[in-house]
Amino acid sequence: MAKKPSDSYTVCSEMLLPNDTNTLGNMFGGKLMMMMDMTGAIAAQKHARRTVVTASADQISFRHPIILGDIITLEAKVTRAFRTSMEVHIKVWAENHVTGKHLLANQAFFTYVALNEKGIPTEVPELIPQTEEEKYLYETALQRRQSRLKHHHS
Ligand SMILES: CC(C)(COP(=O)(O)OP(=O)(O)OC[C@H]1O[C@@H](n2cnc3c(N)ncnc32)[C@H](O)[C@@H]1OP(=O)(O)O)[C@@H](O)C(=O)NCCC(=O)NCCS
Repeated sequence: MAKKPSDSYTVCSEMLLPNDTNTLGNMFGGKLMMMMDMTGAIAAQKHARRTVVTASADQISFRHPIILGDIITLEAKVTRAFRTSMEVHIKVWAENHVTGKHLLANQAFFTYVALNEKGIPTEVPELIPQTEEEKYLYETALQRRQSRLKHHHS
């Protein structure tokens, strides 16, 4: 049965503590990538209701540092489902816990593949976008897929 992007909507929050910072007190990039992958995988699993594996992560650039004590919030939604794969858009917000000021620190597209009980890629439900932003992300997903697969096969 077809699903809406909101069916996969996933939000995860965490506070940045010293263990996950570099020597400048900014967030360690590898930790952020792990949180992005986890949030994206949860969204993909909500869509497919299957175990998923990460097939790829598009270019990740760190636009703003996330600093010690910030509240990190990750939002993820499936943008388009193909045959066995799903593209997930992940946004990362950094919020100052005292002022409440928040900014978009980072965003990326991850691709997950649903697996059946034998570990073989299996079909996922169709996705029907609802909002203008969802329709835009859905339309543009095809081009992003072509470019990542071209890169993957080159
Ligand atoms: C992802 C994986 C399941 C794909 O397996 P495969 O043998 O290439 O299977 P297929 O050729 O049938 O492709 C399955 C789907 O994956 C997609 N895919 C494969 N490689 C991809 C890539 N690099 N980027 C995006 N999608 C990819 C294909 O387009 C296809 O999608 P579709 O069915 O929606 O058209 C396999 O490569 C794998 O298990 N990789 C390791 C995953 C993993 O361990 N992730 C954690 C990293 S530590």
